[in-house]
Amino acid sequence: MTTLITNIQELLQIRDSTVSKVSGAEMAILPSIKNAYLLIENNLISDFGLMENCPKINADNTIDATGKVVLPTWCDSHTHIVYAGNRVQEFVDRINGLSYEEIANRGGGILNSAKKLNETSDEEIYEQSKLRLEEVMKQGTGAVEIKSGYGLTVDGELKMLRVIRKLAQNYPIKIKATFLGAHAFPIEFKENHSAYIDLIVNEMLPKIAQENLADYIDAFCETGYFSVDETECIMEAGKKYGLQAKIHVNQFNAIDGIAACVKHDALSVDHLEIVTDDDIEALKNSNTMPVALPSCSYFISIPYTPARKMLNAGLPLALATDFNPGTTPSGNMNFVVATACIKMKMTPEEAINAATINGAYAMGIEKTHGSITVGKKANLIITKQITSYYQLPYCFGTDLIDNVIIEGRIVE
Ligand code: NIG
Ligand code: FE
Repeated sequence: MTTLITNIQELLQIRDSTVSKVSGAEMAILPSIKNAYLLIENNLISDFGLMENCPKINADNTIDATGKVVLPTWCDSHTHIVYAGNRVQEFVDRINGLSYEEIANRGGGILNSAKKLNETSDEEIYEQSKLRLEEVMKQGTGAVEIKSGYGLTVDGELKMLRVIRKLAQNYPIKIKATFLGAHAFPIEFKENHSAYIDLIVNEMLPKIAQENLADYIDAFCETGYFSVDETECIMEAGKKYGLQAKIHVNQFNAIDGIAACVKHDALSVDHLEIVTDDDIEALKNSNTMPVALPSCSYFISIPYTPARKMLNAGLPLALATDFNPGTTPSGNMNFVVATACIKMKMTPEEAINAATINGAYAMGIEKTHGSITVGKKANLIITKQITSYYQLPYCFGTDLIDNVIIEGRIVE
């Protein structure tokens, strides 16, 4: 099947296949072609260029994109889309003055979601989660990483990862699965951390590896959660099964976790609301992608990742949603891009780079996703008629997407 998109006002994020991520000052550049065409053959981008060179072919479908911008779909490299129920009561409790920490300390937070998840059937979790996945696809996300971490038992973690696999089998969107058994210590292990880590390492991981259920391993490296030493232990164990690390770190406190993640060649370090000069030094010249989650900062009123400081130091940065029931009940990457511009002072070019090619890198799919490149997946956002791509973050909260194409097909 062939689809020809014609008269594109501007085609954004054109990259050579050798570009795997962009860093520092390069992030301010968003290569584009004005008045362009793009040809899709089956599920891949097969050709693009200036409209005056558009091939005269009889495509199966033609889309006239006059006045519209076309860009790669968002790559959301950090989500917890699979969960049961919601945490609206904690939301109201926070409005009334309680902090995230206070709610967690009285048994709410991650443990609240774990209780709900373990009480809910796999079928029901799948039904609830697929609605969220369908929603984010319509909002322009064409690849998503999904974490476990609300099971915190052998059965619960396996259940979550099997739901993630079922979503991956049933939907065209690319899904990467991350094992996050080290999300929080269950109550019964509060005073015996080593026993829970033992459960993760010696019971959960072998079963997950046997069923090939995860691509990556994660831990919540934070005061009151997993210490740096405990996180290193989890990263080591994951490595034995070929699972590279993507770590929650520096959300509330800087505890030197980033240097440890870099030492263990983590693919990404995520959150980074609090970043020290030492953290920045540790990330320099590493292969580890820093990932900011501005919707989380917005929703629970914590600082935003200091993007300018990091980009000025030459670092790359990716943007993701963190879609989860506690700190970010939204998977809208358009809001993430707008908030990065408005609150983190990233330019539209930087934010779009962070949400496409760098997001793809942070989930290990940069060879197939994240840019307009011949041979990459035909994953495209076609906007409504707009004056320029600046309108995407400027009109925050307005739906400016006309069509989303994933693997060559329009998302209905
Ligand atoms: O990324 N910080 C740790 N994990 C999630 C929140 C989990 C929850 O509150 O359910 C996050 O923000
Ligand atoms: Fe998260």
